[in-house]
Amino acid sequence: MRHVYSGKVRDVYELDSFAPPRLLMVASDRVSAFDVVMAEKVPGKGQILTAMSCWFMDLTSDVVPNHLIECLPTPAGVGEAIDPDFVGRSVVTKRARMVELECIVRGHLAGSAFKEYVERGTVHGHRLPGGLRLASPLPEPIFCPSIKNAVGHDENISIERAREIFGADLVDRLAKTSLAVFARGSGAAAKAGIVLADTKFEFGYVDDELLLCDEVLTPDSSRFWDADALEPGREPVQFDKQPLRDYLESTGWEKTPPPPALPGEVLDTLAERYRSVYERITGTSFQGWLERAWAAASTGATPFGD
Ligand SMILES: Nc1ncnc2c1ncn2[C@@H]1O[C@H](COP(=O)(O)OP(=O)(O)O)[C@@H](O)[C@H]1O
Ligand SMILES: [Mg+2]
Repeated sequence: MRHVYSGKVRDVYELDSFAPPRLLMVASDRVSAFDVVMAEKVPGKGQILTAMSCWFMDLTSDVVPNHLIECLPTPAGVGEAIDPDFVGRSVVTKRARMVELECIVRGHLAGSAFKEYVERGTVHGHRLPGGLRLASPLPEPIFCPSIKNAVGHDENISIERAREIFGADLVDRLAKTSLAVFARGSGAAAKAGIVLADTKFEFGYVDDELLLCDEVLTPDSSRFWDADALEPGREPVQFDKQPLRDYLESTGWEKTPPPPALPGEVLDTLAERYRSVYERITGTSFQGWLERAWAAASTGATPFGD
């Protein structure tokens, strides 16, 4: 395999021995808060996020086909023995030509959308009723496209602007699909007392087929809030990352690098939160995921012999 890319959280490899080409996407235990990546890692986070994304890809595969080939990579699927460090945190996917549009769906008001609403009464240029507060539910979930601008930062754009750039047919299809996947995801979260406030999807083409790619409905791509603690106007309790945010606030850190060192207890609490959001929403055990991942990784020899 050949390393092709490392993002904030994942390392991507191309598996050269396959045609059409495959990727191995490996999720690390890196964690960020207030847009700064911490020096320490949250043990198991990459495995939990991988498990969660696979669960949601499966849950939504009747809504839209996705890029997954193997959620629990086998040596045959990878073309070589599986690095023990990758077990449970990697997936084999089709390599797609990515649509360079971040497909955000928002069900509640937060982040940059809340800021725009306060300043202009709109979200991604879409006018909303007055009187909404931080964390308020929107009248209905809305599709909020965003692109990377020249300096590489995400820029919220209107649907009209997205249509000009990507064509109306594609944008309308992405909007419809994103809203349908969001509805499925927020329904599953709601059953567990968790609000899916917003999330981001990425799509890509393999030949002429449009596939849901990247990661789906993980705490890294979504805001999950504790439904019981939700009170519009108040800073929402971010289910997974709250212990990290609380700790960082308690240190008086200015939110610019370098971040303060994190105590072991904070990392353990975080790991526990990530595991719990996964287990509550999916109703399956993380331990079970790990066992299946090890079983798949140790099936047979490599397809090319020993
Ligand atoms: N099926 C796919 N084919 C090609 N690229 C993909 C596919 N799925 C996701 N990607 C890309 O792989 C990268 C995943 O790494 P990530 O850590 O999320 O990076 P980033 O910090 O840029 O978001 C992203 O650039 C994403 O667009
Ligand atoms: Mg990403």
